Amino acid sequence: KENLIIAIDGYSSTGKSSMSKIIAKNLGYTHIDSGAMYRAVTLYAFQHQYIVDNKIDEQALITNLSDIKIEFKQDLTTQKNLTFLNGENVEADIRTMKVSKMVSPISEIPAVRDYCVALQQQMGEKGGIVMDGRDIGTTVFPHADIKIFVTASPEVRAQRRFLEYQQQGKDIPLVEVLKNVNERDYIDSHRTYSPLRKADDAIEVDNSNMNLEETVNKVMEIINSKK
Ligand code: C5P
Repeated sequence: KENLIIAIDGYSSTGKSSMSKIIAKNLGYTHIDSGAMYRAVTLYAFQHQYIVDNKIDEQALITNLSDIKIEFKQDLTTQKNLTFLNGENVEADIRTMKVSKMVSPISEIPAVRDYCVALQQQMGEKGGIVMDGRDIGTTVFPHADIKIFVTASPEVRAQRRFLEYQQQGKDIPLVEVLKNVNERDYIDSHRTYSPLRKADDAIEVDNSNMNLEETVNKVMEIINSKK
């Protein structure tokens, strides 16, 4: 079978996006980072003052959801995926701690999920995609050809995210990064509407003791064995 749909779900900072990007490249597929959409919606809410002092004006956001246009484009020189919000490149703005702190409460709103899920289904309908997120194998593509569920210990994940911030010149204390990772995991797995959980037919990969290359090799093995 060609043009498979590959769903890669799991906890925050397990390296889902990095591995999905490489796997998509190996297969000649498109990588879609579904978390970037929830982050873009969160940024939009900040831009329009629908989030003030950590309080979300849900009604205002829901009313204006149709005004949000999210697109992905590839930077031709660096080959990086870039996220565009209403025509503006927001790739850096959606990765800040400010957005990370509010993205899980925003993602709990059913209308926000419906909006992002519809966009994800539309982008992936033809197959030939690797999509990473929280509910891709359970809700977005329950019939995905291959489902991977990635886990790692919270400490390992926080350490990875901490180093990423350091490389970007952002000095965020490790405890704060760990707190954010734990809070997002808690909200993501306890929300009533489409929570983060392993699909029954997903294969779990714990990469606490694996680096990116080893994780990619492991997942490629799984894909090749199922193709
Ligand atoms: O993947 P990333 O960590 O960038 O996602 C940011 C947040 O977006 C997650 O913590 C989660 O709250 C939300 N999300 C989601 N469903 C997805 C992808 C992301 O709820 N499929």
